[in-house]
Amino acid sequence: MRFHVRPTASPLIGSIRVPGDKSISHRAVLFSAMAEGTSRITGVLDSADVRSTISAVSALGAVVEIVAEEPDGLTLLVHGWGCDGPVEPVGSIDCGNSGTTIRLLMGVLAGWGIHAVLTGDESLSRRPMRRVTSPLAEMGARFETAEGGVAPVGISGGALAPADFDLPVASAQVKTALLLAGLRASGTTRVCEPASSRDHTERMLPGFGVPVMRDGLCASVTGPVVPVASDVAVPADPSSAAFLVGAALLVPGSDVTLRAVSLNPTRIGLLRVLARMGADIHVSQGDDVCGEPTGDIRVRFTEKLTATTITAGEVPSLIDEVPLLAIVATAAAGTTRFEGVGELRVKESDRLAAIADGINALCGGAVATEDTLTVTGGHPLVGAALDSLGDHRLAMAFAVAGLVADGETIIDRFEAVDVSYPGFAADIKALLKGSTP
Ligand code: S3P
Repeated sequence: MRFHVRPTASPLIGSIRVPGDKSISHRAVLFSAMAEGTSRITGVLDSADVRSTISAVSALGAVVEIVAEEPDGLTLLVHGWGCDGPVEPVGSIDCGNSGTTIRLLMGVLAGWGIHAVLTGDESLSRRPMRRVTSPLAEMGARFETAEGGVAPVGISGGALAPADFDLPVASAQVKTALLLAGLRASGTTRVCEPASSRDHTERMLPGFGVPVMRDGLCASVTGPVVPVASDVAVPADPSSAAFLVGAALLVPGSDVTLRAVSLNPTRIGLLRVLARMGADIHVSQGDDVCGEPTGDIRVRFTEKLTATTITAGEVPSLIDEVPLLAIVATAAAGTTRFEGVGELRVKESDRLAAIADGINALCGGAVATEDTLTVTGGHPLVGAALDSLGDHRLAMAFAVAGLVADGETIIDRFEAVDVSYPGFAADIKALLKGSTP
């Protein structure tokens, strides 16, 4: 689907709750499926990626009842497989576009004596899986992958030995897969990272009766242990909120409040960076929800933004926000530099190349190297025909650019937004009319 955007004459005004957090939704569904008993999850993101996880755990023997489909998300009752373990699936499990689904599932399945084949779409079938299969193989699971260590991935689980891992890259998907495998190993499995990635797993597992020891950049679990059912409420997704934050900052006169967003410090690097760029953003802390801090974010149009340097250490806390932040940087005085962003080359697309190409097509100034990105602000954007490459975060970042670029911006394969934020265009339209729910 082609999406056409023109610069808006009206500001974005209003208060809105973006959909539930994708990372937390995946984990809530997976941990409930692994648990003994019935879990109730509210505010689950209803998107293609989370539907992939729901279908996967259903194929493995968990029973997922959708008891309500509301604007704030799905309410699910999940009857887990608990001590019986997952059943061998009939046919392969399609993980769609979802890296979190395929990588976390490998950890879930590694310790059970069944065989499963995990597949994905064209994008997922290009993404590196050895970062998960190699350490899980050290623990005792067996894998067959397509050439280059990519999906389809065949997994034969079995008895696992606990292990100590020092990850070469900060990755919450890898960390979580290894910790979940550790639940089936007799002894302590410890995972250390070079920088802190999102810590939803560490925060959520204790609610399912699984203690997680944390020590600086390391987390460990001691098995064998079977999670017990729990209730989870999913807060709004800061990575989806990011696009509305960016739009409100760039469109003159805007004043938008994003309600009940996860303010987990491992997820809100974007807000810290925007504060240094001079953005008019005010955060009010609300209640903790299931171990996650939440609150409201009020953002107003900011005429004078200044460039900054985003260091490699900050990147994990804004890894999914780089495309949007790069678009915001086109409006900042000076050159914004992103360091240590090579991981973006192996996301749903090569986001580093694609965002630089997109900004240059819009007459901005961007240069990508193997693991850096520089964006020189102050070149007014001019509408262009852009390809999302089927990548949801590129589609939304380009749409934000289109709201301020002169002339028309056309974004190809815009349906990719369904992966994380199906109501994105409707929410932008509602804010432009000032008539938010
Ligand atoms: C995610 C972790 C991140 C992120 C992805 C979701 C998760 O990936 O980019 O969108 O839910 O654990 P990495 O762990 O590979 O950095």
